[in-house]
Amino acid sequence: MQTRAELDRKNLDSLENPYSSIPAEITGIVDESPTIKTFELEPEEPMKFATGEFIQLSVPGLGEAPFTPSSSPNVTDTLEVTIMEAGEVTGKLHNMSEGDIVGIRGPYGKGYPLEEMEGRDVLVVGGGVGLAPLRSLLYMLTAQPDDFGKICLKYGARAPDHLIYKDQLDDWGSGASEIDLELTVDEGDEDWEGNVGVVTNLLEDLDMDTEKGVAVVCGPPIMMKFTTQSLLDHFESSDIYLSMEKNMSCGFGMCGHCQLGKYYVCKDGPVFTHDQVKDIPDLWE
Ligand SMILES: Cc1cc2nc3c(=O)[nH]c(=O)nc-3n(C[C@H](O)[C@H](O)[C@H](O)COP(=O)(O)OP(=O)(O)OC[C@H]3O[C@@H](n4cnc5c(N)ncnc54)[C@H](O)[C@@H]3O)c2cc1C
Ligand code: FES
Repeated sequence: MQTRAELDRKNLDSLENPYSSIPAEITGIVDESPTIKTFELEPEEPMKFATGEFIQLSVPGLGEAPFTPSSSPNVTDTLEVTIMEAGEVTGKLHNMSEGDIVGIRGPYGKGYPLEEMEGRDVLVVGGGVGLAPLRSLLYMLTAQPDDFGKICLKYGARAPDHLIYKDQLDDWGSGASEIDLELTVDEGDEDWEGNVGVVTNLLEDLDMDTEKGVAVVCGPPIMMKFTTQSLLDHFESSDIYLSMEKNMSCGFGMCGHCQLGKYYVCKDGPVFTHDQVKDIPDLWE
């Protein structure tokens, strides 16, 4: 006969722990820029996610941080995360090697609403590492190009060596892809022959149907702020999609760490329309 304590322990063990993660092996690492690396992860079990949803990635013994996969949701046996070194967890990740094991849990949140983009021109605006979640979206848009209108990507980085996915940028810019790409850097170097200046400079003359189109933005807060201001000259507030970042803990609406106005970024976002968040004070602080 089991004691009460044994029964309680059995019941507790049978409850699924929402914080438990699955082990994932690092199977590839690409140096994208001086501060950004892309990690290919092979989880013990395939993890399905929708474009724009995020995962919590843990480094054993240190902690965890949220990242949005930069790979295509159509590939489920591996996933890629593109990570900028910013502090403890990301610093440790940047020192890890192929074969090392991390933990992942999720996916969480609401990603990009592909159904809202169907039949419409899509403008994608990225700054720095902000191109990571947008790459996942671009994979989905270009997988079924007939379902969408024109796809324009405007991408800016600090300097030429800070542009990420350089090989893909070459492909997208070659004219042979469905993506109409324009790049800019804040500061060029001796080899750079392209645009110099902030990414908002690329938003003045848009060769697309903005009236019926949608815009999607991801980048540092200051870039998001000024990009959104420019986009409001062309797009409806409800047609501008923003990826919002807040400090996170649980990732599934329990702890309140990620509160943004009346929303929890982890559960109601991280993708919001400008219309949803425009009245939140100090939105970009
Ligand atoms: C939904 C979501 C998706 C995201 N997706 C991505 C993604 O795809 N790629 C990506 O690169 N990032 C992404 N981020 C951001 C990423 O989660 C953070 O960069 C990460 O959590 C930082 O964790 P950390 O432990 O390395 O930094 P922490 O140690 O927590 O540091 C965080 C901040 O504090 C500052 N800091 C750290 N140490 C010090 C110090 N000693 N003194 C002063 N300041 C300090 C750092 O500069 C940094 O700005 C995402 C965030 C969210 C919310
Ligand atoms: S991270 Fe806990 S509520 Fe959002």
